[in-house]
Amino acid sequence: MTPLRIGIVGYGFMGRAHSNAYKRLNDFFAVQHRPVLTAVCARDASKAQAFASNWGYERVETDWRRMVEAPDIDLIDIASPNDTHYEIVLAAAKAGKMILCEKPLAMNVRQAEEMTEAVEKAGVPNMVWFNYRRVPAVALARQVVDEGRIGKPFHYRATYLQDWTISPDLPQGGAALWRLDVNVAGSGVTGDLLAHSIDTAMWLNGPISRVTALTRTFIKERTHAITGAVQSVGIDDACMFLAEFANGSIGTFESTRYARGRKNFNTFELNGAAGSVYFDLEDPQYLSFFEYNQLQSGQKIESHLAGWRKIHVTNSEHPWMSHYWVPGTTIGYEHTFLNALADFVAAVESGKRVRPDFRDALETQRVCDAVLLSAQTGAWVDIQTAQAEA
Ligand SMILES: NC(=O)c1ccc[n+]([C@@H]2O[C@H](COP(=O)([O-])OP(=O)(O)OC[C@H]3O[C@@H](n4cnc5c(N)ncnc54)[C@H](O)[C@@H]3O)[C@@H](O)[C@H]2O)c1
Repeated sequence: MTPLRIGIVGYGFMGRAHSNAYKRLNDFFAVQHRPVLTAVCARDASKAQAFASNWGYERVETDWRRMVEAPDIDLIDIASPNDTHYEIVLAAAKAGKMILCEKPLAMNVRQAEEMTEAVEKAGVPNMVWFNYRRVPAVALARQVVDEGRIGKPFHYRATYLQDWTISPDLPQGGAALWRLDVNVAGSGVTGDLLAHSIDTAMWLNGPISRVTALTRTFIKERTHAITGAVQSVGIDDACMFLAEFANGSIGTFESTRYARGRKNFNTFELNGAAGSVYFDLEDPQYLSFFEYNQLQSGQKIESHLAGWRKIHVTNSEHPWMSHYWVPGTTIGYEHTFLNALADFVAAVESGKRVRPDFRDALETQRVCDAVLLSAQTGAWVDIQTAQAEA
């Protein structure tokens, strides 16, 4: 087997999720590469060392530049806050490394364009961790769409709701709360949560052509965890937008961190002439499917017996499930990263394009920026680009 020597930036939430995927890859997927946990980079050497010892990384770096240039690293995995992605990607592409980058790809479209150009010019394999595409039920939704079972699409409806920033006493910034500091996060729920919803939406329903948005910052000032000063809050706490898709359907997207009781309520529904699909990440083993022309023994099913089907997506015919357990048994959140990694490595081996790559994530970034611009101006904003082909 060929070693795939990993250098990861960040030992936080995603550092753990990705490391788990590297460790389990060869247990579940028959690929020719074997991930080697070579180096972890973070600024706090002692915390990074504790992480390295726990997860089995060979060494610790405190400057990502050294790790990017190290000849014994094949792949740079960026699992650090959003403001770090740009510089690390440019350096890693220049060094000819494969790159896996967390979402959102960048702080803005200008950065995302440069990053996409850099990886394409360098010809390095690249992928962005929009891992929800790799929930088997979400991939089944795509299969249902591809099979023509939704028919002409009319509506797309997405929500991504959380409730963890409601307290005005919560500071902004620093290691724990960088998501509340606009200079580190780039935006609030738009880049953090809606980027996922937009990626899924465009994957299922094609490009978005224009948007109009409303954002709200409910708590206007917070103490900064690093400076100790009370500073204005620059992120969007909530965002709602309307979208027109290139296929003529229309969509609503809603995201907030102020929906009391909602922890990671990520849902979508797509309604077409022939059927509908609905997914809820808090019930991730299921895809709900309504088929207008339900047949039984070749006859249209009687209307008093027609209804939604809640498909338990655990059969070996379902995406990725044949790699795991017997039908009826489930996989979890962590497996979405493992599925994504397996697809990435398989693509490296076959020379095929893996999705979503930087070019796909650039299109998502364009929609995010258009949403934020529309929220400022109050106008509809066109997504001015040819979208990546589906
Ligand atoms: N795909 C998903 O579902 C998903 C989920 C959560 C987070 N994310 C994304 O992953 C990234 C990291 O988020 P997280 O939740 O893991 O954050 P986190 O705060 O848990 O961890 C961030 C890590 O980055 C390190 N770090 C910060 N600045 C650094 C620097 N300059 N050099 C080296 N290391 C540095 C920190 O020490 C920490 O280890 C973000 O871009 C976030 O948007 C994606």
